[in-house]
Order: sequence, then C-alpha cells, then structure tokens
Amino acid sequence: MTGKKKPAAARSALPRRAVLGGAGSGLAGLALGFAAGGGGREEPARADGGTDAPVAVPVFGAHQAGIARPATPQTFCALAVLEHTSPGASSIGEIGAAAGRAVRTATSPETCAEAGLLDGPGDLTVTIAVGPRLVAALDDTLPGATALPLFQGDEAIPAERRDGDVLVIACSSDANDAATALQHVTGALPSTRLRWTQRGFRARGQGTITRNPLGFHDGVIVPRRPEELDENVWIPSGPAANGTNLVVRRLRLDTSAFHTLPHEGQERVIGRRRTDGAPLSGGGPTDEVNLLAKTPEGELLVPAHSHARAAHPSFTGSHLMLRRGYAFDDGRRVDESGLEVHDAGLLFLCYQREQSTYVRTQHRLDEVDDLMDYVTPTASGSFLVLPGFDDDRPMGSTLAGA
Ligand code: HEM
Repeated sequence: MTGKKKPAAARSALPRRAVLGGAGSGLAGLALGFAAGGGGREEPARADGGTDAPVAVPVFGAHQAGIARPATPQTFCALAVLEHTSPGASSIGEIGAAAGRAVRTATSPETCAEAGLLDGPGDLTVTIAVGPRLVAALDDTLPGATALPLFQGDEAIPAERRDGDVLVIACSSDANDAATALQHVTGALPSTRLRWTQRGFRARGQGTITRNPLGFHDGVIVPRRPEELDENVWIPSGPAANGTNLVVRRLRLDTSAFHTLPHEGQERVIGRRRTDGAPLSGGGPTDEVNLLAKTPEGELLVPAHSHARAAHPSFTGSHLMLRRGYAFDDGRRVDESGLEVHDAGLLFLCYQREQSTYVRTQHRLDEVDDLMDYVTPTASGSFLVLPGFDDDRPMGSTLAGA
C-alpha cells in the first residue's frame, strides 16, 4: 500500500442490490451458469461441444457482434484506434457505411476471401466504435460525446495514444484472421489514419472468466443474461439505442513486483483467492464478495484496499460493466522515459450503458485500490459502439439520420 490512498469514508456504501434494483436475482444466477451443468444458460467454451472447429458468429443483429456474442470471447484480438482527418457531422454516416460493408465482407463465408481470409471466417467478429469528437460533431448531447477525464498516471500517456475517432476490434480463435480482418476493415475506412494498434490474447476460460496476466480469475462479476445486458450495457433509447459505451485502457502491469508478494498478499490485493477466484469472504468461485464479512477480531475479510472492494459498484452507485479484456505482451523495450520495461499487461475493455460507470469506478480505484500500484496506463479512450446493423439498416444509419 502507498500513501496516496484517501479514505473512502464519505462515500455511500449502498449494497449492490439496492443500487441495481432487481439485478440481484440475475447476479445470483451468474454462479448457476458457471457451475457444471447449472442453469444451462452459459454456452460451453466451444459451442460445437469440444472440437476445434470455430463456430460462426452472426454479424447482423440488434447489437454488434463481439460484445455479448460469442459468450466466450475468442482467444485473439487485434485492435486499432484511428484518427479522422476531416471530422464533421457526416463522418459517422460515412465511416459506419464503409465499416459495415467491410465487416460484412470479412465475416461472410461467400466474400471473406476478398478480405484475405482464404479458409473461411471461422468465429471472426469485428466491432466498430466512434470517438467523442465524431459523436459531438453530430450532436453533443448524444451518449459517447464526452471524452474521458484524465485519471491517475494518464498525463504520461502520449497524446497519440489518448482518445481517437474510430476504434476497430477484430476477434477470432485464429490470430492471423483477427489481424487480417483488422487490416481489411481499417483499410476501407475513408479519411482516416492509424494512431495505435494492439494485438491481444486470452488464456483458456469459460464464458467471460479467464486467468488474467496476474494469474487471477477475471471477468467473474459481469452482466451476462439478456436482461442484465439490457439493464447494464445497451443504450436503451435514442439514435444510439442498442449501442454501448466502450472504454479501452492499455494497462501495463508490473507482474514481477506483484509476484514478489506472498500468495496471501496477492490475494489481499485482489480480494479473491488465487487458486479458484472465490471471494476472501467465503463461498464459491463465482460468488460475490461479501463486503461486510469480518474475522472474529473485526478485520474485514475483503480488505479495505483490495481491488474487488474498490471496484464494487455499491460504492459508486453505478451499474455493472461488461469487462471483456485481453492480455498483451510486447516484450521488453525502452519506454518514453528511457526506462527498460516489460511492456505487457491487460488491454482492458469494458462496455457499459453510461460512461459514468467507468469514470466513477476508475476515480475510486485511483483513491483506494492497492492494485493500481502495479498498473501503468499506456493508452486510453472512450468510444460509442455503433448499434447493430443489417442489409436494411446500414451501420451508423440511426445516428447519421438523427
Ligand atoms: C490491469 C488491471 C486490472 C486487473 C488485473 C483486474 C483484475 C480483476 C480481478 C481479478 C477481479 C475479480 C474477479 C472479477 O470479478 O472479475 C476484478 C473485478 C473487477 N474489476 Fe478489475 N482489474 C483491473 C482493472 C480494472 C479497472 C480499470 C476497472 C474499472 C475501472 C475494473 C473494474 C472491476 C470491477 C467492476 C470488478 C468487479 C467487482 C465486483 O463487483 O465484485 N478493473 N478485476
């Protein structure tokens, strides 16, 4: 722990269920879905029942693919953030139309060879989002029109790696397909130039749950069921309805320093067990942390500065966020300040109905979370994921016509 922490005493400690209204029943169901055979809700790690053949993900729908479908994120991603060279009120319409065509080409078995995917699209998804500058050029009252504030450590992020106008994420169980599709789609976008790009990977997992670069289960407490996604993730109405607010943070992790802690110390930083992800307050791997549980001596079982406590939505009055990040590892290199670093960590991606869910949570992490001592932000931005599309409803058209 460092001296930077401020007490969170003044913050309201509403129980999660009080904050989320009826969401408690859904959260309780998360555990059922993960338990073997429980509930039958969670799709298996591979929808084909265990062979290596990837299962196609429908490209059309109310929501874009790559956020809630497939339920188990593909193993690899390739992400790019671009800048629009002549942003204006028509940019989202133009970008959306071009992106929609390119995504369709890359993900359709009939046309994917044109995008360079010669063996079929597999389980490829490509998701498109636009940055605050383009949204505000259309209407500054729309969701996604406001850039993120600066958080702790953000002032050291190079300007080129902050914000951005278009974000493209291609995900696939084939790393090559993800990279090829990213190149195809970004190459089709008019009046853009590349700002930064990142490839990511995920450990084997089940649903959104996988071990992160620190070796802990991650993606446990997230909305999954359609009603949870409606309540917490999808924008409910207006021209951006069925879109969502995406925050991307490239977070370098000092895994070496973290792993010098004894196992018990690591668990106290996270608030969950290292082996199976169960809360330090007791229960099974997918149970929620009990923020009130104490030892007979009166010590909090989920420590005051642990990440699971700090990030808990009850302190911020926020909705849940859908965390669906990827690990990255770019090896050792000399960073902007001349220090040699292992440039690896978490490409943190989270989707939420309101951007404030992320902002309030990150402010609280900056104040009280011991995990942030091991995190250096190296890129950051928030984006409006465009609503889903189909042949009759080109990507971005609901916004472009607003
Ligand atoms: C590299 C940085 C991070 C790592 C390694 C990390 C890891 C974890 C782990 C292991 C958990 C517990 C299991 C789970 O519920 O998924 C967790 C929970 C959570 N994290 Fe993070 N996290 C990171 C950054 C962030 C950031 C930047 C945010 C948002 C600002 C965030 C928000 C949350 C939330 C909301 C939970 C669930 C808390 C609950 O309700 O129990 N995390 N994270």
